Amino acid sequence: MSSSFHHQLVATRDRKHSKNHPFFELWAQGKLSKEQTAFYCTQHFHFVGEYLNWMAYEASQIPQRDVKQYLFENLGDEENPDDRHLDMLKDYVAASGIDPSSVESTIVLGATDALQSWGWRMVYQQPWQGAVAAMFIGLESQFLDICKKIVPALHSHYGYRPHLAKSGFSRNTSTPTRSMVRRALPSSRSIVIQLSCRP
Ligand SMILES: [Fe+2]
Repeated sequence: MSSSFHHQLVATRDRKHSKNHPFFELWAQGKLSKEQTAFYCTQHFHFVGEYLNWMAYEASQIPQRDVKQYLFENLGDEENPDDRHLDMLKDYVAASGIDPSSVESTIVLGATDALQSWGWRMVYQQPWQGAVAAMFIGLESQFLDICKKIVPALHSHYGYRPHLAKSGFSRNTSTPTRSMVRRALPSSRSIVIQLSCRP
């Protein structure tokens, strides 16, 4: 059966897509407390923090200048000191009624620790093509469909108002996830296109 490289990557991802995890099913149905969803964000914070470190390491190792440039640009966008993406997770935690300063010291669960370790094994031990595909299609691109599933529930079940402010959701209003979707789209699409065009 013929299939493009892109489709093979996406099909592999979709066989165990995280959007189908029971946790997200419960979240979409409004059956989780705000505190439980905020705790998820603390684990997401621990994972994404390492993700950015994987990206920095991988970018330092890749000889292909276009891929290196893409990774550094993506990293610079994520770590923009005036609009750090990780801060949106703290904003969500704050909107859930929990002290956002507690996020960084929150326990790292075993599964989160395993995910962190998996990423380091990828960038240390796999060829860059495999590591980048794992990071961007295996992981990051899953977030888009997760957000599509969760954002409506944030409005219908949790009382957050739709919010399209440019800087993501602020500490006193609405949700972070709509802007997360917006922010995640360009980078994920772009890397899928780049990878699908490579042999
Ligand atoms: Fe981001």
